[in-house]
Amino acid sequence: MSDKDSFYVTTPIYYVNDKPHIGHAYTTLLADVLARYHRLLGEPTFFLTGTDEHGQKVDQAAASRGVDPQAHCDEFCERFKELWTKLGITNDFFVRTTQEKHKKVVQEILQELWDAGEIYRDEYEGWYDVSSETFYTEKDVVDGLSPEGKPVERIRETAYYFKMSKYQDWLIQYINDNPNFIQPDFRKNETLGFLRQPLGDLCISRPKSRMSWGIELPFDADFVCYVWFDALVNYISSVGYRRDDAEFKKWWPASYHLIGKDILTTHTVYWPTMLKAMNVELPQTIFAHGWWLMENAKMSKSDGNVVNPMDLCDKYGVDSFRYFLIAEMNLGQDSNFSEDAFIERYNTDLAGNLGNMLSRVVKMIIPHFDGQIPTPGGLQAEDEELKIAVLAAVNAMEQSIYDMKMNKGLEQVINAIKACNRYFEQTKPWALAKEGNKERLATVMYTAAEALRIISGLLFPVIPEKMTVLRGAIGVPANEISPDLSGLKIWGIIKPGAVVTAPDSLFPRIDKPKPKQPKQQKKKNKPENVVELIEISDFFKAKLKVAAVTEAESVEGADRLLKLQVEVGGDLRQIVAGIAEYYAPADILGKRIVIVSNLKPTTIRGVESHGMLLAAKKGKKLTLITTDDPEFKTGVDVG
Ligand code: ME8
Ligand code: MG
Repeated sequence: MSDKDSFYVTTPIYYVNDKPHIGHAYTTLLADVLARYHRLLGEPTFFLTGTDEHGQKVDQAAASRGVDPQAHCDEFCERFKELWTKLGITNDFFVRTTQEKHKKVVQEILQELWDAGEIYRDEYEGWYDVSSETFYTEKDVVDGLSPEGKPVERIRETAYYFKMSKYQDWLIQYINDNPNFIQPDFRKNETLGFLRQPLGDLCISRPKSRMSWGIELPFDADFVCYVWFDALVNYISSVGYRRDDAEFKKWWPASYHLIGKDILTTHTVYWPTMLKAMNVELPQTIFAHGWWLMENAKMSKSDGNVVNPMDLCDKYGVDSFRYFLIAEMNLGQDSNFSEDAFIERYNTDLAGNLGNMLSRVVKMIIPHFDGQIPTPGGLQAEDEELKIAVLAAVNAMEQSIYDMKMNKGLEQVINAIKACNRYFEQTKPWALAKEGNKERLATVMYTAAEALRIISGLLFPVIPEKMTVLRGAIGVPANEISPDLSGLKIWGIIKPGAVVTAPDSLFPRIDKPKPKQPKQQKKKNKPENVVELIEISDFFKAKLKVAAVTEAESVEGADRLLKLQVEVGGDLRQIVAGIAEYYAPADILGKRIVIVSNLKPTTIRGVESHGMLLAAKKGKKLTLITTDDPEFKTGVDVG
């Protein structure tokens, strides 16, 4: 084990194939909170995040938008950076795998492993699914299809392999000898389970002929490096590996690689064996958290069930968002996201418990002590009790940081706030004020203000913006707004005479959106220009189809109507339409129009009508929606 005294935490580097969602925000926030606590503990801290920019996913995302991959990366990496700025993320560096300094390190490593015989060249022959970039064995392929049902091709090509298999026994031993290496424990067991089967060698090349968006292999210019081999190296290329030995020594090995459980194997099997081959020390802990789910399904963009963190922050504030994510998820387990739970937790913990405590402190000190922290007298039993409860929360929080159980630590802090609100009920400062017992009131209010100083310090890494305001309001000097955790372990630091001010409502209550009522709106009351929203399923109830007008004539006694015969995919039907003002029968004949085909037939002026046609209307003008593309024959679906 290393004897370094620094703290180095990383997040996964995210693919720039799409915008960040709440899952990405979570890992980065977790790292941020952890980094902030370690800074408050006085440890030199380095916090790394960034973007993973090579490989097929990104290449395809760029191609689908018709832009050059580098331009695509430049654009999408900004979306991550913008979100991190918004969320108050305090990363020390933002790595992009397309940066020269990273690419250079990857190439040097590849060359070194090639020279050392850790990488070898082989001919691969087998089945390959181009769409998912996956190789399959004979037994996987049935009738030319992969187990996923995708067509596969027979390919024979050169490939380069990293000799991962030879490290299998060593890795099993290492994991067993270092129980903290993979956390939580059940994830360690998952990796050990995986390692019970023979470990293959790792194909680290992709032929440029198929996919050229990557780092070129230094020993064969026809190939680029497999994206994971490139990406994992970011954790060392960002802190001076092969570039600045002193810097590297200062930070490496990483204290924590924080990851989601989806990328456990790459981090606990590929990465340690790569480092072993490179003769570099292993990270101290790889910590895999669970998933944020939406109605029990993993949030993923392909399922379209992602929550946009920017929207939530705009709606409820950045700190509420930070607090919810950290407090709500039991580290290691999955968690369901819901806006209701978000509001519930905010209203209970922040608007309720903490908001009450703050307002009681401020509202008593301002009128009764001229807005200054009073000088306390001797402590009584109930004062001592509160002091002990609050100091216990400091220890609990500190322990929970080392144990990676920040949500549990926060629970203890909330308990301390509740203890403080109970303390007000016991000591009844408002009664003391009425009685004119200023001496006792001074002690009570000093004790409560000091409790709030410590509690706000403990919450600072999680909700820094709000705690900056709160700490300022209770007279914490500017240079102690960001607290040193050791200062939170000492009682009696807040100075009598410090100025207390009333902050603007820090945690206004949020009203829960009313559950949707089935609408029974009367047309009359509906204001103009208000668009009534419908479910997509409502829209799809209407079957729109292309139809050809085969006959058209006016309707006797009804000068606005035309009677049409239309042909829809071989069926003939009659439609009566109010378009005579705009179309003469001869004008509409032969047109291919769009109709709603599944309307119940009705009778208009004694003439049967089966269907409705679509038209755009503006003032006195009307134009039918038509198609003139010969490919769109009648009967084709529209939608
Ligand atoms: O895998 N809940 O990038 P990625 C919680 N580039 N966390 C989630 C989540 C969810 N629903 N969805 C995503 C990659 N995450 C590689 C990593 S590292 C050398 C290369 C978080 O964009 C979680 O941290 O797919 C997960 O591991 C990561 O985003 C995957 O991000
Ligand atoms: Mg992913």
